[in-house]
Amino acid sequence: MNITILTLFPDMFTGFTTNSIMKRALGKGVATINVVNIRDFTKDKYGRTDTPPIGGGAGLIEKAQPIVDALASCRKENSHVILMSPRGKTYDESMAVSFAKEQDLIIVCGHYEGIDERVNDYVDELVSIGDYVLTGGEIPAMAIADSVIRLLDGAITAESLTDESFNGNLLEYPQYTEPYEFDGKTVPDILYSGNHAAIEKWRRKQSLLLTKEHRPDLFAKLELTKADKKLLAEAESGETPKWEKDALEKGKKFLHR
Ligand code: ADE
Repeated sequence: MNITILTLFPDMFTGFTTNSIMKRALGKGVATINVVNIRDFTKDKYGRTDTPPIGGGAGLIEKAQPIVDALASCRKENSHVILMSPRGKTYDESMAVSFAKEQDLIIVCGHYEGIDERVNDYVDELVSIGDYVLTGGEIPAMAIADSVIRLLDGAITAESLTDESFNGNLLEYPQYTEPYEFDGKTVPDILYSGNHAAIEKWRRKQSLLLTKEHRPDLFAKLELTKADKKLLAEAESGETPKWEKDALEKGKKFLHR
């Protein structure tokens, strides 16, 4: 997949593409990121890319011509073009999954106080990353590129993808590392039991409980299985269920105390 980002601030993407998982994924050829400087396309005799709004008002508005010409320079027949804008549809994981199926994604970053309205006619859709206003579309573009690239084959392990938050509207279960006790807080004993089925069941229960508590909106969309309902009922009863007690008893010898 190729992602092209149209921006007035190409340097903002240097850190993004040269660190951590993005660096590795791009190095492995999982995707390519091509950053295009909108400024290179201005035909304004003073080299401006923004001017005051017609009719008066605060700030500078990005002119249409440099953006539209920058877009024309990289747009292909199969390109999907999105414009980052607080006015757009709110981005979520299902949109990331759909963008990850594109061969060629072009992300246009707006800046300053706004963008000439006529640019909207040259893009396929407007996308917002949430109900707050940033100073420009660069951070939203990074959020989109990151969330899309990590879904592509070879970016991260398949297991990380299936276990993660939002998969099937369920938040990820809690994770722990050594030592067993940190600042008086211990790791749940079940994780030392060596009983993988019990650990999986416990994690599922924690995911359900966390989603119910923190994201009731996602919880309401869940299609709970019979087993899920049983796990929740167990949790609500406050009793440790037999399967968990048995796993804890048998796994005692593995406990790292
Ligand atoms: N540009 C400024 N704020 C934005 C937001 N919340 N989402 C997308 N683009 C933006």
